[in-house]
Amino acid sequence: MSNILVLGGTTEASALVATLAPLLAERGDVAVLSYAGRVATPKAQPIPVRVGGFGGVDGLVEYLGAHNVTHLVDATHPFAARMSANAVVAAERAGVAHIALTRPAWVPIAGDRWTHVADIDGAVAALAGPPRRVMLALGRMHVDAFAVQPQHDYLLRFVDVPDRPPALPHHHLVVDRGPFDVQGDRRLMEAHAIEIVVCKNAGGTGASAKLDAARALGLPVIMIDRPALPARREVHAVADVLRWHDHRADRGV
Ligand SMILES: NC(=O)c1ccc[n+]([C@@H]2O[C@H](COP(=O)([O-])OP(=O)(O)OC[C@H]3O[C@@H](n4cnc5c(N)ncnc54)[C@H](OP(=O)(O)O)[C@@H]3O)[C@@H](O)[C@H]2O)c1
Repeated sequence: MSNILVLGGTTEASALVATLAPLLAERGDVAVLSYAGRVATPKAQPIPVRVGGFGGVDGLVEYLGAHNVTHLVDATHPFAARMSANAVVAAERAGVAHIALTRPAWVPIAGDRWTHVADIDGAVAALAGPPRRVMLALGRMHVDAFAVQPQHDYLLRFVDVPDRPPALPHHHLVVDRGPFDVQGDRRLMEAHAIEIVVCKNAGGTGASAKLDAARALGLPVIMIDRPALPARREVHAVADVLRWHDHRADRGV
């Protein structure tokens, strides 16, 4: 019997548990999905959910042992670097099989006008200069870092209404949950006369509409590259996770 812990908070994790859920009973396996707890009303899921941090590597090792987890699937966002690094170390220490389900990074195509930056600070620095109308497609966590470039008009899009207003003197907030489509994103950018887009290289299809819209409108994009992660087994498809699991389960690991 397998006991699978899925680290989630992404459309990939939701797709994985949707595929996994109907298979569990017939196989006698169990699975739990873990959320960090950043979103007030997460999507309903077909398997049990736990919410909140584990307490670093030590806490995760303890959780894996206490819950007899046999397989750890890291399906977190490519920018959830701390969780992913902790998962690699904790799985190793606890002797639990580990795999990451990720989206391939986006790569520019003809018509894209991307400037690559290494991190949030790089994106903030790249916005030095005269006032512009900026779409900050980053989620809520790092928005306040842009307060040192207060000259711009920022368009923000969050999943939830924030507890306190963002620390940006000129901003407009849209509360909406993806996936978004190209026509909608194009209309949004046009309605706000956006001149430049800032985003993370999340990859996948759920968040790529803004890039298609920016290309169609000829807008420049400041692209924040992915953080470095420790070496790990990584796949891009739900089916590959199931194959990996079944192969290991057949061998009793
Ligand atoms: N970063 C993004 O751009 C982004 C975008 C979309 C969705 N998300 C999702 O939002 C969540 C948090 O992302 P983040 O960038 O804040 O991560 P992070 O910086 O790597 O993680 C910070 C801490 O949050 C806790 N944590 C993160 N993901 C968790 C999970 N799935 N289950 C339980 N605890 C978790 C862990 O706390 P402990 O050390 O106490 O265990 C971790 O050390 C993740 O689930 C991620 O998939 C992130």
